[in-house]
Amino acid sequence: MSITDMMDRLRTAKTTGDEPCIATGNPRVNLKLPSKKVMFTGLDIGTTKICAIVGEIEPSGRVTILGVASTPSQGLRRGVVINLEETVDSIRVAIRKAEDIAQIAVRDVFVGIAGGHIQCHQLTATNDVANPERGITKSDIRRVIDRAIQHQVPPEREVLHQIPQRFIIDDGPIIDPLGFCSRKIGVEVLLVTAAVTSAQNIVRAVSQAGYRVAGIYLEPLASSLAVLKEQEKELGVALIDIGGGTSDVAIWADGAVRYTGVVPFGGDAITEDISKGLKINRYDAENLKKRYGICSANAVDDSETVQAPGALSDKMHTHSRKLLAEIIECRLEEMLMMIKEKIDKLPAYERIYGGVVFTGGTALQQGICELGERVFNKPCKVASPSGLAGLAGVVSSPIYSTGVGLVLYGLEHEREQAFLDGNAFNKIAKRLKSFIDWYG
Ligand SMILES: Nc1ncnc2c1ncn2[C@@H]1O[C@H](COP(=O)(O)OP(=O)(O)OP(=O)(O)O)[C@@H](O)[C@H]1O
Ligand SMILES: [Mg+2]
Repeated sequence: MSITDMMDRLRTAKTTGDEPCIATGNPRVNLKLPSKKVMFTGLDIGTTKICAIVGEIEPSGRVTILGVASTPSQGLRRGVVINLEETVDSIRVAIRKAEDIAQIAVRDVFVGIAGGHIQCHQLTATNDVANPERGITKSDIRRVIDRAIQHQVPPEREVLHQIPQRFIIDDGPIIDPLGFCSRKIGVEVLLVTAAVTSAQNIVRAVSQAGYRVAGIYLEPLASSLAVLKEQEKELGVALIDIGGGTSDVAIWADGAVRYTGVVPFGGDAITEDISKGLKINRYDAENLKKRYGICSANAVDDSETVQAPGALSDKMHTHSRKLLAEIIECRLEEMLMMIKEKIDKLPAYERIYGGVVFTGGTALQQGICELGERVFNKPCKVASPSGLAGLAGVVSSPIYSTGVGLVLYGLEHEREQAFLDGNAFNKIAKRLKSFIDWYG
């Protein structure tokens, strides 16, 4: 069963938004604004924590965070469910806590998806325009996108997103070809697929926890919604969300996402190295990393020390802070190099004039920007969700970028639904979810 079918089956009523969103334009997040207050719940099923965020979006564009709750993630490895029962319990605890804080009952949630099983493909197709003199119509555009996504997706993979990049007409590349006279129309589409089983397990876990999946969204895209400004997407940036188990990448150029990918390592690998290197348990290694860690050994004086109990006894041992920094620097540099190797051959990499934006919990690692600048040879910064009201202070950390982005995606999803419901080309349009970004 496809995720779409599964979600349709699990969804017995419409999602939480009261009515379709209107196109007044929101400069902050570049989402179309709702005509009245709407409330959405984002559920970030991360490797280290499961986090539920309830947010309310007003017609003015004000986003108020009403409830936030995290619970340590049980039953996941590198973004993939490995123990359904434990994952279900963690999801239930996180959403219930968020419900208590927000004082509302949650029904539908927007869930993030990530993990090594996510793949992205660049697809192209070209068609004759039905009537070149009259100009390119929406139906020409739909047909060429439809042709591009006839890509052979094996049965074990599910299409998550199809995102048109640009069109090519007789006169060359163009963002919006509608109405242009041309004999041919070509399109480049970014196709993002996931392993069917991984995606189904997420939907199943949420459903067993007693909630409905209203939409699934790729995590680096959700984080992008929460932290990237429109000017940054236009200028071109690589967003890197380094969590506990994975590092998710989204490359933006000329206002559109050009690539998404995953490197199956995150901050937990650093903790693991500290634990082994200093012969201490993981809990203490995690604490040392967060309190005294820095990813530049040169920045630490030889005489500085840190203390932690030994792995087999409570006796405190003294360790060199420089060694701690060396371990962190070595692993984080290796992870950033792996990400660089994954993206530096892509044509879009040349166009990230804005540099690299780090988010996710590991972006809190002291010195990450300096290390990033050395590895990527581009300007780097750390970004968190900002410009929010309500519990804004709680979520203004890189740890919450995906969760906040999923709340914002709720609004985007409502708009997509409104488009699909009222459109004669419903069947095709369902397959062209992202297409409406261009014409909504
Ligand atoms: N102050 C800090 N300094 C360094 N690392 C930190 C700090 N705070 C959190 N981390 C690390 O961030 C990671 C968790 O980040 P995050 O909450 O974004 O992960 P996640 O979303 O659960 O995992 P994933 O996205 O990989 O599935 C952990 O490895 C944690 O050690
Ligand atoms: Mg994450």
